[in-house]
Amino acid sequence: MKKNRIRLGVNLDHIAFIKKSRDTLYPNLIDAVQIAEDAGADLITIHLREDRRHIQDLDAKQIRDHAKILNFEMAHTEEMVNFALTLKPNYCCIVPEKREEKTTEGGLNLKDLDKNSKEVFKKNIDILNKAGIKVSLFIDPNKESIILSKELGAELIELHTGRYANKFNTIDEFEALDELTQSASYANSIGLTVNVGHGLNVENLGQICSIPHINEVNIGHSIISQAVFTGLKDAILKILSIINNHD
Ligand code: PXP
Repeated sequence: MKKNRIRLGVNLDHIAFIKKSRDTLYPNLIDAVQIAEDAGADLITIHLREDRRHIQDLDAKQIRDHAKILNFEMAHTEEMVNFALTLKPNYCCIVPEKREEKTTEGGLNLKDLDKNSKEVFKKNIDILNKAGIKVSLFIDPNKESIILSKELGAELIELHTGRYANKFNTIDEFEALDELTQSASYANSIGLTVNVGHGLNVENLGQICSIPHINEVNIGHSIISQAVFTGLKDAILKILSIINNHD
């Protein structure tokens, strides 16, 4: 049986980064949404960071008004939960956030949550779910994080592919790929929908697409980097051709 095509979420943070660097009205993020969707992106992903280093509140609202399907990445804070409830994205991916980091460096540390923090997490996932927002947790590919995600009430997880991306073309590449394969298989077996993302590009994506049970890949940095030379549409088409050629 042929599996469904893996969905592509295009992360626009790096376009917003250029806009924020000069506080200009360009590059226009709504144009980016339009081009990405026309090229075949299944959804638009943005991360409103607490330090507002790229996407701004108004950008998020305007993107919400134009994107067909929006995946909103955010830290687990009261401010962001409230923002998500007014934004009403289709999906909300909860990620860890540290001010000093260049990008999201690892998955959520769920195992060290104390009882109270776990209850708050559960309550917020429930509130978001009841508002019609599907919640995904960005976690490292290991069984413990997957079990905890399920316990907290998430319907989806996004496996952090950063270790695999960093180990690509090294002796540890296949171990990192195997971690993702085992994790996707286990998560699927307990009823979770499995997304992946971080550090994926035209070179390392093929093997990820061959992993069974992957629902969606989220890609930002490599697409926007390629777009600098050949345009956003071309950069997305290149990624889609890899996705489409794997089954
Ligand atoms: N998924 C999540 C949850 C992320 O935090 C990021 C980085 O913002 C990505 C995917 C995309 O990573 P990259 O920009 O390396 O493609």
